[in-house]
Amino acid sequence: MLPSVLQPNATDHVPVLADEVRRLLDVQPGDTVVDATFGSGGHATVLAEDLRGEGRYVAIDRDPNVMPYFESFSRGAAVKTRFLAGDFADVIERFADNGRGADAILFDLGVSSMQLDRPERGFSYAADAPLDMRMDPSAEMSARELVNEASERELTEIFRSYGEERYARQIAKRIGRERRKQPVETTAQLVEIIKAAIPTPARFGEGHPARRVFQALRIAVNDELGALESALPAALEMLRPGGRMAVISFHSLEDRIAKRFFRSEEHGCTCPPDFPVCACGREPSLRVLTRRAVRPTARETAANPRAASARLRAAVKA
Ligand SMILES: C[S@@+](CC[C@H](N)C(=O)[O-])C[C@H]1O[C@@H](n2cnc3c(N)ncnc32)[C@H](O)[C@@H]1O
Repeated sequence: MLPSVLQPNATDHVPVLADEVRRLLDVQPGDTVVDATFGSGGHATVLAEDLRGEGRYVAIDRDPNVMPYFESFSRGAAVKTRFLAGDFADVIERFADNGRGADAILFDLGVSSMQLDRPERGFSYAADAPLDMRMDPSAEMSARELVNEASERELTEIFRSYGEERYARQIAKRIGRERRKQPVETTAQLVEIIKAAIPTPARFGEGHPARRVFQALRIAVNDELGALESALPAALEMLRPGGRMAVISFHSLEDRIAKRFFRSEEHGCTCPPDFPVCACGREPSLRVLTRRAVRPTARETAANPRAASARLRAAVKA
């Protein structure tokens, strides 16, 4: 029997904003589609259908545990498929450097249901497990290293900027105190430390009291923002003229990166606003297809609560 991390779950294949992604990416027969965040292949199944038997589907994921999902997708897909393990920023940069083109590129950011629902991956505050949170289990730094080795100042900064945690300093200080007694090894230990560090009313406020710190650690451990910052220009380079890219994000930090990138590429010129005429000569390279981020409908959120915070932006290469 496969270990539980390798067993597909019934809930794994619920792609977020799937109809909207499909409409915006407008995949055509013969296209090359790059799915930068394959996960359990929910979007892949939908988008590969639009290839109607012609074209290729390139799947990327830094988590090798998605392989059984890819194999199953590949068996059912009527087009050429390929899986590349690694950080999408590295893989897409490599493709772009080698002159490979794509007609559609999708980023569905963050963690998958598969990663969240496997307690042993250490992403969830709801289950006791080793403090891990690495999307790529071979990566050097896990949440355990970060929590036990980063300075209190660094932890405060991480909780504040990636989690918008109000009690960032108090939580970092408490971690410092507890880890001097014994290392923080598990998610349950960390949850207890967070609860003890914040004022009592905040423990019963909106959402789980550990939610923001867990989000912040996950973003830091996996350098999620850095990966997106590097991947977007590489994706633009890889896109063929008329090709489209779409980004689904689940928190404002990622959404801001996508929004700014799209805006600046659509604007082109980088001259200061008080320049009477353009001196840089930079032409617009994208046309934004989503003036405002697309949000899931109430119906989708009711059926899949994890979709609630999703925001989708898309653009076409000029
Ligand atoms: C939200 S899930 C994608 C779900 C997928 N669209 C589906 O419908 O099943 C995000 C996936 O992207 C992967 N991922 C996140 N950041 C990545 C990165 N920088 N490089 C490669 N894969 C990444 C995660 O391991 C996870 O499997």
